[in-house]
Amino acid sequence: MNTTTSARPAHDIHDISLADQGRLRTEWAGQRMPVLERIRERFEQERPLEGKRVAACLHVTTETANLMVTLKAAGAEVLLCASNPLSTQDDVAAHLVRDHGIGVFAVRGETDDVYYEHIRDALAFRPDISMDDGADLVGSLHMIALERWDDLAGPVRDWVMELDADERQTLVDGVVGSTEETTTGVIRLKAMEKDDVLRFPVIAVNDSLTKHLFDNRYGTGQSTLDGIIRATNVLIAGSTVVVAGYGWCGRGFAMRARGMGANVIVTEVDPLKALEAVMDGYRVMTMEEAAPIGDIFCTLTGNLHVLREEHFRAMKDGAIVCNSGHFNVEIDLESLLRISEGNPTEVRNSVEEYRIDGSGVYLIGQGRLVNLAAAEGHPAAVMDMSFANQCLGAEFLVQNISSLERRVYTVPDAIDREIARLKLESMGSNVDILTEEQERYLASWDQGT
Ligand code: ADE
Repeated sequence: MNTTTSARPAHDIHDISLADQGRLRTEWAGQRMPVLERIRERFEQERPLEGKRVAACLHVTTETANLMVTLKAAGAEVLLCASNPLSTQDDVAAHLVRDHGIGVFAVRGETDDVYYEHIRDALAFRPDISMDDGADLVGSLHMIALERWDDLAGPVRDWVMELDADERQTLVDGVVGSTEETTTGVIRLKAMEKDDVLRFPVIAVNDSLTKHLFDNRYGTGQSTLDGIIRATNVLIAGSTVVVAGYGWCGRGFAMRARGMGANVIVTEVDPLKALEAVMDGYRVMTMEEAAPIGDIFCTLTGNLHVLREEHFRAMKDGAIVCNSGHFNVEIDLESLLRISEGNPTEVRNSVEEYRIDGSGVYLIGQGRLVNLAAAEGHPAAVMDMSFANQCLGAEFLVQNISSLERRVYTVPDAIDREIARLKLESMGSNVDILTEEQERYLASWDQGT
């Protein structure tokens, strides 16, 4: 990708001098994102987002950098803030600011307050379109619209309170639509739609087949193990890995852990998913039963307090716990701290030891997404499809804005399939084409057996 030096926009990043490294790493990722590259080339010609202000709240990674550059090529004015305080790659942030003139508000390890200052900065950009990974921007906009001041994070509330009623109204009404990257965000948005409070159409990127079947399964599968291994360097072969949640992320992680020789246990609340796990050959049991057996525990449920006090107390000395779900609520961190003797000790980068009843329990990445806190997130080749969906979802939103309702939409099936086709083509694989006879046969109900 050619980099262009642009005027420096407002930003808040760690260190601009990291930009060279960020550029090299972003280019490396870009070489593995051929679908996004094809879209970028078309966008440069057609400029489908001309004049639109896009505020993105995403993990600040090399893959996201390639997305931002693509949105800019489409004619959008873009701003990026972090969707997690621990996932930001500071060199990437520096590269986007210095070489692409993109305003980035993200510092790895930022406090919760700074995290929300950055959300505030994204809102103050007054976007036409917001792009979320976990619904933080959309959530804040709706809290403002509903005047639920107490539900706003401090920095956002302080800023909003200084706006007059008209300014608040234009802020909320200015957003014509949004896209959402992840399962957790989509669940929230669907709840908003059900409660009839959604104020604009949202494209649920996560619901595309070319997103969740690949990113959630193969991306999470690989990057979660990558995070665990980078943080701990433990041997997976022969260990007992407890996977909480058998959605697409859990399925991917279980599959890859087994592939490396782990004995995998799955815990579930949904009998269908649990049955699937049994038939996939895993042991399925309750967390209470798994707690004393597991060597490594990973939560991928989207729910809260999946690992709790009674589980920590039952764990073996040396047990490793981590989370690969969107929010850091799946492990009950308050209980973990409360029942541990003294404060945790950092025993390796990203690994803290909690002493409980004489045993050590080791938490990776403060219970935040282990694949981004302790590794680099999903590989570029899989983010290629996720971010192709983001781009085409945003284009679809703009093209259809007058007919879309205040609902959660999926990316149209034809676009989803086109992304799959382009990805396959880039990988050198072709698919067969139905013969006319086959088409007729599939369309009929009265042709012979
Ligand atoms: N979510 C998971 N992996 C990611 C990555 N590499 N970039 C952006 N978002 C991600």
